[in-house]
Amino acid sequence: MRRFAVLASGRGSNLEALLATVSSEDFPGRICVVASNKPKARALDVATEHGIPTAVLSHKGYARRRDYDADLVRLLQAYRPDWILLAGFMRVLTPTFLDAFGGRVLNIHPSLLPAFPGLNAQQQALDAGASESGCTVHLVDAGTDTGPILAQAVVPVRPDDTEETLSTRILAAEHQLYPQVLRWVAENRVHVGEGWVTVDLPPGQARILRF
Ligand code: GRF
Repeated sequence: MRRFAVLASGRGSNLEALLATVSSEDFPGRICVVASNKPKARALDVATEHGIPTAVLSHKGYARRRDYDADLVRLLQAYRPDWILLAGFMRVLTPTFLDAFGGRVLNIHPSLLPAFPGLNAQQQALDAGASESGCTVHLVDAGTDTGPILAQAVVPVRPDDTEETLSTRILAAEHQLYPQVLRWVAENRVHVGEGWVTVDLPPGQARILRF
């Protein structure tokens, strides 16, 4: 059984989608902890409601990112995770963290990377006049949303979209895509190397979903 730790700073809707998948009877893995840098993150309540252990490590008081990351590694290692899933974790991670988990760190980002990395990705897509946007699950490296891509979901951008309506459409796609990738990982279909990732896809599934 694969063990997953989830890191989240906010409302936790992706966490909810991941938990729904993990709770199905045939799922070969479990979420061993949900950790946050924000003591009041709703994601922690979501975890508690599902009976998942939670942990908080505030970033306040740390002068250097790598010192925070070293403490976060220590905290997580107590739960023996095989993979780390970022689900709205609003911090850039340093090699101190990434190396400790052998690059087995996933993130979901609300754009079709490499387009629109960083903050406010949905507004960036609108500002650029994109006709499509979506979300990306990728391996985390030391850059901002630059790691190797595992899967993407594409949604249309409509002429009358606001940041809110586009974000809602993308979020619904996120809730499909991240659990699908989680299942690939749990079923040992994802292979990670230095700067690359491959997926042995199950029959009938694809790395690009279209909505
Ligand atoms: C999502 O839009 C995700 O793509 C981004 O942060 C947001 C997290 O939302 N990385 P939630 O906390 O999962 O609802």
